[in-house]
Amino acid sequence: MRILIAGCGYVGEELGSLLLADGHDVWGLRRNPRSLRGGIEVIAADLAQPEDLRDLPESLDVVFYLVSPNGSEDALYRRAYVEGLRGLTGALHQQRQKPRLLFASSTAVYAQSDGGWVDESSEVASDHWSGKRLLEGEQLALQALPSATVIRFGGIYGPRRTSLIDSVRSGRAIYRADPPQYTNRIHRDDCAGALRHLMGLENSESIYLGVDNESAEERAVLLWLAGVMGSPEPRAAEKKEASKRPRGNKRCRNARLVQSGYTFRYPTFREGYSAVLEGMV
Ligand SMILES: NC(=O)c1ccc[n+]([C@@H]2O[C@H](COP(=O)([O-])OP(=O)(O)OC[C@H]3O[C@@H](n4cnc5c(N)ncnc54)[C@H](OP(=O)(O)O)[C@@H]3O)[C@@H](O)[C@H]2O)c1
Repeated sequence: MRILIAGCGYVGEELGSLLLADGHDVWGLRRNPRSLRGGIEVIAADLAQPEDLRDLPESLDVVFYLVSPNGSEDALYRRAYVEGLRGLTGALHQQRQKPRLLFASSTAVYAQSDGGWVDESSEVASDHWSGKRLLEGEQLALQALPSATVIRFGGIYGPRRTSLIDSVRSGRAIYRADPPQYTNRIHRDDCAGALRHLMGLENSESIYLGVDNESAEERAVLLWLAGVMGSPEPRAAEKKEASKRPRGNKRCRNARLVQSGYTFRYPTFREGYSAVLEGMV
């Protein structure tokens, strides 16, 4: 198949490697491409600049949209999730291409804050601009190419994405305990694996949650990491510190993805962080 990865960064390059190994032709698009991993054809383009998209590869079968904003501002989110996607779907339309689209979104679309479970059927009513822009992107993807699939990833970690490990190792890590704060994460290799799996599904649902098998308490993750690294025990955040941390508190359920046949390489943070730590020595 002929596959374009728009936003070929941390997850995109890993996905590209898997797809190349499967025998597909793969193009990776980003604004500032250094060379991409062996065999991924490089396209230097800004998705929000229509003139950059005049010469997309022809006869694309699949397009992955894995773009993320390079800052935490409404305008940057709008550019990444809405304007870029509009630019790309517009260019595909003009070029009479109707590939299968897979759009990476985030669990930030949920506003739930009571620590309860959410799944694909739960209310999405983010009261924050970040969730709103992601939802706009999701809707645009599903409208522009109705066979599109949206996958809402939790926090992505893996090789070189080690901020949590670093904070525990340095003794800076704190957790919110009252009420318990739940975290939802997924290893980079499972993001790539799940995207490749969804691409191969004949009857895909339109939305999947992309999180591992264990929505874990922040405290449990930090204490486990400190234990395996022999680092100082993280402490509970004081009220003032806790109020500065990201909002929202929910447990994301991945049953739909698992029932569709995906098996996690790193089912929980324990296997995933163990592999990351092994790679750091
Ligand atoms: N990281 C997380 O914890 C997390 C959580 C939930 C969901 N997600 C989603 O998962 C997907 C993959 O994340 P990731 O960690 O692989 O992101 P990443 O490493 O930041 O890669 C995103 C890529 O998008 C490119 N890009 C940004 N704006 C662009 C534009 N206007 N035109 C062309 N390319 C553009 C960037 O390259 P240039 O700067 O060179 O253009 C970058 O290579 C993203 O959709 C992200 O929103 C991530």
